[in-house]
Amino acid sequence: MGSLELRVKYGIWSRPNYAYGVCNAALLARRLGVPGISVIEFGVAGGRGLLALEDIAARVSRNLGVRIDVVGFDSGQGMPPPADYRDLAHVRDTGYYQMDHDKLRARLAGAELVLGNVNETVPAWLAREKMLPVGFVSFDLDYYSSTMQAFRIFEGPSAWRLPRVYCYFDDLVWPEFACHNEYIGELCAIKDFNSQHPDRKICPINMFRYMRIHDERWNEQIYVLHDFAHPLYTKNVMPTGDLYREIPL
Ligand SMILES: C[S@@+](CC[C@H](N)C(=O)[O-])C[C@H]1O[C@@H](n2cnc3c(N)ncnc32)[C@H](O)[C@@H]1O
Repeated sequence: MGSLELRVKYGIWSRPNYAYGVCNAALLARRLGVPGISVIEFGVAGGRGLLALEDIAARVSRNLGVRIDVVGFDSGQGMPPPADYRDLAHVRDTGYYQMDHDKLRARLAGAELVLGNVNETVPAWLAREKMLPVGFVSFDLDYYSSTMQAFRIFEGPSAWRLPRVYCYFDDLVWPEFACHNEYIGELCAIKDFNSQHPDRKICPINMFRYMRIHDERWNEQIYVLHDFAHPLYTKNVMPTGDLYREIPL
């Protein structure tokens, strides 16, 4: 229904948050002259999110002519034991969200499923140095400790990522009893990542929801990793003839 841009603008997708991130990452890559990107889901569980990401990536890739590799990271055995109070043990526990590996693999069209604790799989995946630059990441690992480990995806040479990486954080709200705040869970991981990295910051897009047609919850869950030292960070990505080049009388 409608063009890709119209569908992203109005959020006509089963996961409009993923569509927004993938589409904008691909557009950014194209404007930067980067031919392909990786899009990642951390925390796959049954696989509904990864299947949605695969479908979105295929449509965006066809429309924009940017190659998109899809990758999902998960333990494959559900949640590991919580490390401390920051892992929200008051609402999560060991073994939540089991995966049926065979069933999921049979449905995947080409996405890479990386199984094991992200503590080990992320450094190993990066060490292969074969991936396209990371353009979009969905973080849905629930725990502070797991999210901190997953943030290692933003380590290594700048060629391994776009200068601005679109991110979606699933666990900033719900369940209500979690009482999310910046001292526990994903919000705490974002705060600690930012304090540990002077030239890299994960931030929301200021006033993002005012740029959207529909004000939806996920608007508050879109963040961007800014890699200020990236050689492409300052490359102008506005199209020639855009509205912001002239302010006539
Ligand atoms: C809420 S579920 C993900 C749901 C999925 N994104 C969806 O939309 O359907 C959280 C997942 O994170 C995974 N997980 C949490 N900590 C992990 C870790 N340290 N390493 C690997 N996987 C982890 C669990 O196995 C679990 O499947």
